[in-house]
Amino acid sequence: MKNIFYSFKNSRKRDRVLQKLHLSFFLKIKNNYKTSKNIRKNKTKDKRFLEIGPGLERLPDFETLNIIDGEDVDYIHNIFKPFPFEDNSFDLIYASHVLEHVPWFLQADVFKELYRILKPAGQLEVWVPDGWKVISSVYEFEINGINNIDKDGWYRFNDEKDVVTWANGRIFTYGDGSDDIYHPNWHRTLYTPKFLTNLFKKAGFLDVTLMDESEVRGYNHGWINLGVKGRKNDKL
Ligand SMILES: C[S@@+](CC[C@H](N)C(=O)[O-])C[C@H]1O[C@@H](n2cnc3c(N)ncnc32)[C@H](O)[C@@H]1O
Repeated sequence: MKNIFYSFKNSRKRDRVLQKLHLSFFLKIKNNYKTSKNIRKNKTKDKRFLEIGPGLERLPDFETLNIIDGEDVDYIHNIFKPFPFEDNSFDLIYASHVLEHVPWFLQADVFKELYRILKPAGQLEVWVPDGWKVISSVYEFEINGINNIDKDGWYRFNDEKDVVTWANGRIFTYGDGSDDIYHPNWHRTLYTPKFLTNLFKKAGFLDVTLMDESEVRGYNHGWINLGVKGRKNDKL
């Protein structure tokens, strides 16, 4: 025990751990400062649009929130936790291929939060990978020997075109290429059209409907894309 403590006390490992702790402490302060500054700056805008988990380019007129900072990120925040915004803040919230990174058992809480920060009659638009297409494809393969996976762009990560390997990639993702198994981009929820629609309805959204491809605002994920929109009640 004494030896382990001694070697930690005097090792490069200790330096690395301390360096990481310092970095994450200062990073947190820097991120909180940027987030609070942008909250104050944007609070008084008349019309407000928020994109959660944005892609490489900012959608015109949208404020952006991401778990990782970047040039085009206004708010650095993990959406597992309550949003840092007041009630009734946004006219429109757009979330494409981000909510599947939230654990399935936190989905209802996140939808409640999204409802809370929308203005009355504000709209939520959500795109996620369609788990029903994944399940149906596996079923078709197991029962009828039909391989449908080249309908989805992610077949390209799978030289053998193995259906269950593709399904695993689609359900859990291939990670972000950094070999970090704790990276936020792992998937934690599988959706079907009914499951996603019910999350909207349970949170109180009205006029809940499936969206079609023409309603994609940013990157179009193609065949696998499942989109649902809903509106907050227009009375406070
Ligand atoms: C697959 S990318 C989607 C990018 C783009 N919206 C699109 O449709 O192509 C997922 C995005 O969500 C962000 N993200 C993942 N987990 C998050 C979390 N817990 N809180 C906030 N953002 C998160 C990632 O950093 C990344 O920008």
